[in-house]
Amino acid sequence: MQLLKEKILLEGKVLSDEILKVDSFLNHQLDPVLMKEMGAEFAGRFADQQITKVLTIESSGIAPAMMTALELGVPVVFARKKKSLTLTEKVYQAEVFSFTKQEMNMITVSKDYLSSNDRVLIIDDFLANGQAAKGLIQIVKQADADLAGLGIVIEKSFQEGGKKLRESGVRVESLAEVASLKNGQVTFLSRLCK
Ligand code: G4P
Ligand code: NA
Ligand code: NA
Repeated sequence: MQLLKEKILLEGKVLSDEILKVDSFLNHQLDPVLMKEMGAEFAGRFADQQITKVLTIESSGIAPAMMTALELGVPVVFARKKKSLTLTEKVYQAEVFSFTKQEMNMITVSKDYLSSNDRVLIIDDFLANGQAAKGLIQIVKQADADLAGLGIVIEKSFQEGGKKLRESGVRVESLAEVASLKNGQVTFLSRLCK
């Protein structure tokens, strides 16, 4: 998605060979106009998929998921990272390993909001090693729901999450695919060698 790539080049900060900071429009301040465009793009790509629910994980997945769900006319559910006191039972849970924090975290979704009648589109802001995606997919499986695929705002193609997911048969649609962050520079994956 050209608009997003331009925004990344203009405002993204390369923190290291592995980390891209996009706090000005995705992870801290949010750009609603860009967010709306991204929601429309995801909705268009999955338009023929009879999606009944968009699933994401707090916090940065919520904005793009919300815009996608608005466009598709379906609800959005976000997995919680901290089990709330009112979510004592009737939940789906999955473990997500965080590479950045080197720890295992539990994510939780109430059984009230996901069922075997659902066809689910998972949306998230970043795809790196795919741990969050893996946890969300586990939750879709626990609900015995159908998975239509994954919509990712920024995929870091030099990390293995996207490759692994596609190899396992999951449809992954990314709006920007970053091939490298070497030398402080963002290089996108060209469509030809995709
Ligand atoms: P993984 O799920 O693909 O395996 O990713 P990983 O554990 O490495 O990422 C942990 C957190 O860091 C996630 O956010 C993820 O979205 C984010 N992240 C990963 N790589 C980058 C990057 O290059 N830039 C930025 N800005 N974020 C990255 P989170 O902890 O769940 O936080 P949030 O959703 O509340 O923002
Ligand atoms: Na995220
Ligand atoms: Na994030």
